[in-house]
Amino acid sequence: MGSATQTAAAELVCFNDGCRARYAITEVLYNCPKCGGLMEAAYGATQQPETLKKIFRERRLNNTPLDQSGVWRYREMFPFLDDYSNVVTLREGNTPLLDAPIAAKYGGLLNLTFKHQGFNPTGSFKDNGMTCGVAQAVRLGMKRVACVSTGNTSASMAAYAAAGGLEALIFLPHGNISFGKLSQALEYGAKTLQVEANFDQILALVRVLAERLGIYLLNSMNPFRIEGQKSIMFEMLDQLDWRVPDWVVLPGGNLGNVSAFGKGLREAKDAGLIDRLPKLAVIQAEGSAPFYELWQRGSGELCPIKDPETLATAIRIGDPVSWPKAQHEVRNSGGTVEKVTEQEIADAKAQIGLCGIGCEPASAATLAGIRKLTARGVIHRVENVVAVLTGNVLKDSDYIYRYHTGQLEAPGGVKIQPTFGNKPIVVPNDPDKIAELLN
Ligand code: F0G
Repeated sequence: MGSATQTAAAELVCFNDGCRARYAITEVLYNCPKCGGLMEAAYGATQQPETLKKIFRERRLNNTPLDQSGVWRYREMFPFLDDYSNVVTLREGNTPLLDAPIAAKYGGLLNLTFKHQGFNPTGSFKDNGMTCGVAQAVRLGMKRVACVSTGNTSASMAAYAAAGGLEALIFLPHGNISFGKLSQALEYGAKTLQVEANFDQILALVRVLAERLGIYLLNSMNPFRIEGQKSIMFEMLDQLDWRVPDWVVLPGGNLGNVSAFGKGLREAKDAGLIDRLPKLAVIQAEGSAPFYELWQRGSGELCPIKDPETLATAIRIGDPVSWPKAQHEVRNSGGTVEKVTEQEIADAKAQIGLCGIGCEPASAATLAGIRKLTARGVIHRVENVVAVLTGNVLKDSDYIYRYHTGQLEAPGGVKIQPTFGNKPIVVPNDPDKIAELLN
């Protein structure tokens, strides 16, 4: 597959400032053996920025799978492999930037652009990270991979494991993921275990099992998942001809994605590809907002939420693993963290739908958050904002139908108002009656 390109020395480094212990890139580590901190991949110097921009652009004309991938096209920015024959690609990435005037107006902006990760092969941004995580699994000779998931990670891992000939083991919170996502895992042949516990509890369980059974973990504390998700920012910048937006807005759950965006943007700046950083705004659902609470307090440790709740089940997480990285990245970018209600998410989602775009509930938290942040004067009307829609509209069609027909209920039984509801109309098989209705 494709030709190997120049590889800068890669290693794993502890993210904890007080430790920074270094390990070989081929060690299986999710946390630092010395201090327990999160791990990240680090590399030597890369090429000149103008050379890189030219390479990235020219690869779009190539038909090799590696260059057609909207992730591996940017591989000089995450050169952790020494042999690209380990790559499993479903041509992930290549997701569009879409202008959305109706959503811009709703959000209090003159212009708003969506980077729509729902255009990925399994319908979410997880594919950007999974192609890298699975490549590392293949390189290490792993036979079995596992994850706990609110649905999208499992759909993605199941697909990439199947494509790469690995056995996939999936752990899901029973009853709390969308049917569409669960169905994907089944279709891609993953062994699927529904556990009577929430995401945070199952993650603790899976860590124990992975260690005991020698299974490779592909949750977002896997540093190679983060490396792949950086490409969302490289592709966005490439599509903007390397003009930096003022803000990048994204939903926050386990906080892997914001960690990846922050790292990617910093590294793009270090490489001279851009000369400043966009501000990162993370939006959480009100009932699952431990990172928002930490941000409000300004310092200290994250206090996990024991029973997180939200209809945006993708971000129903009370104890986000990557919070230290996320905190560093949001601070370093001069960004912010906001929380939004169930009603705000549902209405924002319908407005995104009216742009002809559509997304899943967690993704719509971005527009709900933007609306709040412009009202508070944090984001200005004239600023350039890119909101990342993390998942496809069809991931959770049950939610959509319930909203538009006035049947959607928030956790605790509070009814969501169908502010922008669009009910289907039942009509008799009678042209006169239908014509009367449509006149
Ligand atoms: N949006 C969607 C659609 C997601 O599926 C997720 C996470 C997020 C946002 C939040 O991203 O965790 O990096 O902060 N879904 C994970 C999963 C947890 O298991 O699929 P994050």
